Amino acid sequence: MTRLDKILSTQLNISRTDAKQMIKKGRVSVNGIPAKSGDVKVADADIVAVDGNEISYSRFVYIMMNKPKGVISASDGKGEKTVVDLVPSDMQRRGLFPAGRLDKDTTGFVLLTDDGEFAHSILAPSRHIDKTYVVTLDKPVTSEVVQDFRSGMELNGERLLQADVEIISEDATVCRVVLRQGLYHQIKRMFKKHGLTVVELKRVKMGNLPLDDSLLPGECRYLSQNELDLICSK
Ligand code: URA
Repeated sequence: MTRLDKILSTQLNISRTDAKQMIKKGRVSVNGIPAKSGDVKVADADIVAVDGNEISYSRFVYIMMNKPKGVISASDGKGEKTVVDLVPSDMQRRGLFPAGRLDKDTTGFVLLTDDGEFAHSILAPSRHIDKTYVVTLDKPVTSEVVQDFRSGMELNGERLLQADVEIISEDATVCRVVLRQGLYHQIKRMFKKHGLTVVELKRVKMGNLPLDDSLLPGECRYLSQNELDLICSK
């Protein structure tokens, strides 16, 4: 059960005060009966309408975005464009934020949600959810680099979790890397240790859920429950 003013504010992206005003003016009905106050509790099966138009309601949303270069993975970019700014207005919700960060110049799979508990559960360091990246480097990746990644490298005095590397281009400058943790600039720093510079970095999968390759850079779509489960499955 959710408060009516919360539903209106979340779905219509308005303040609770504006939602209460709407109710006061008699514009809102629940199951066809005009609502009297914002604190009525509404069940999932109840039909909420504003000015006679039904509004759909889901407690939380989960959105897959193909992040383009040049936008920040945050809800407040302090003047810079963020992934939240790219969500189209009909998908906007209060409290939407990216669950996990990609660097400004990294592209690919970003999950946006307003479900703090879910985000926390997939980001918890103890969860070790796989994140798969396609990495382009300025020089070929050698077998020593691959070995160091796979054995759990030491980076600035810290022992990292084992990471998989698979070379996927003939000239060995493009590879697929699977990380099980998310340290600051992790992939760039791991390659830097071996004198390699990351030229392009794209996240292509979270857990077992691949980025939908029909999404153009900057586009997004809702995820289904099955897809969410794939993020968390090993
Ligand atoms: N590793 C990086 O260096 N940058 C990212 O954006 C993600 C992983």
